Amino acid sequence: MTRKDILTPIEVLHRDELTSAQSALVDKAIDATRRSYAPYSRFHVGAAIMLDNGVTVTGSNQENAAFPSGTCAERSACFYAGAQYPEARFQSIAVAARDASGELVTQPIPPCGACRQSLLEYEKLAGHDVDLLLVGRNEIYHLPSVHSLLPLAFTSF
Ligand code: THU
Repeated sequence: MTRKDILTPIEVLHRDELTSAQSALVDKAIDATRRSYAPYSRFHVGAAIMLDNGVTVTGSNQENAAFPSGTCAERSACFYAGAQYPEARFQSIAVAARDASGELVTQPIPPCGACRQSLLEYEKLAGHDVDLLLVGRNEIYHLPSVHSLLPLAFTSF
């Protein structure tokens, strides 16, 4: 028997430790939470993706009365980026969320499993690691890549 342990490295940062580019991306993710359509959960998520063509695209969760027909912020952002800028490659991603009180969530919200898998596709396409910033009110998680959030991922057949 051999054993493999998988580690996810996370830097826990405070807002004043971000570079100006990171800080701008975080602001865009927070701003995108205001365009979320979440009448059912009242949980407003925003995602911002910086592309290598200089464009930053944003997305937010879009809910639906038929629950599974809605989608998460991360997928609305990455599919929009893929649909609008098929040649561009992802550089970094920020995700923020506000709860029903309208406040930023205290702890950073990690992307759901389906979003991890979707984002991973674009990291693969980029051919390099894509930085992730998960935004909470008190701290920001900085992860070096999407794949570090989804070990043992399915990526080819
Ligand atoms: N949600 C996201 O937008 N991203 C995630 O990674 C997790 C959850 C949304 C889906 C739904 O509209 C609401 O948050 C509550 O689950």
